[in-house]
Amino acid sequence: MFFWKVLKGKLRRSPLAAMPTAEEIYRPQTSSIVTQPFIDHCCRLYALDHGGDHGYAHWMRVLYNGRMLAQATGANLKVVELFALLHDTHRRNELSDPGHGLRAAKYTKRYLSGTLEGYNFGLDESEIDTLCFAIAKHTGSNPEEAPNITVAVCWDADRLDLARVGKVPDPDKLCTELARSPTTILQASARTNYSL
Ligand SMILES: [Fe+2]
Repeated sequence: MFFWKVLKGKLRRSPLAAMPTAEEIYRPQTSSIVTQPFIDHCCRLYALDHGGDHGYAHWMRVLYNGRMLAQATGANLKVVELFALLHDTHRRNELSDPGHGLRAAKYTKRYLSGTLEGYNFGLDESEIDTLCFAIAKHTGSNPEEAPNITVAVCWDADRLDLARVGKVPDPDKLCTELARSPTTILQASARTNYSL
């Protein structure tokens, strides 16, 4: 808790001129993945309160983080965007729910392979496998378990949003050099203070 107070003090003194507005985060730029119908679809999948720690606002900040990291690293943007919207959809509680990643990954596999009525995002089999691995293992995995840069970016995008629950992202748990930078951690943490 002490470290968090120190971090907040640094935030107040840091030049955050490049920070986006809350509206730019919570009303995201649309893409071939991020469309209003698909956002609505994911919101309907989520059984918990979207005002909580793992709902819509969190997804939009993960999306912002993921797009920023993907642009810098060359990660697969379609996979990163799908991860942001789907990874927490199958949570059953806000606390410890170790099965939520696997449930969401199973749903995603069926959804994208056409077993469920869904959208055709044009992902090939390798991209679907990467997305499902990233979703299934997004909690508790160590950076060295990320098999490629796209999974690494997905996990970092999620972990950079930990300040919303009062935790400072641990650089040792982040996969990419950009995510580990103190400026990236400070700015991502500051964005968690934006309310809807
Ligand atoms: Fe998450």
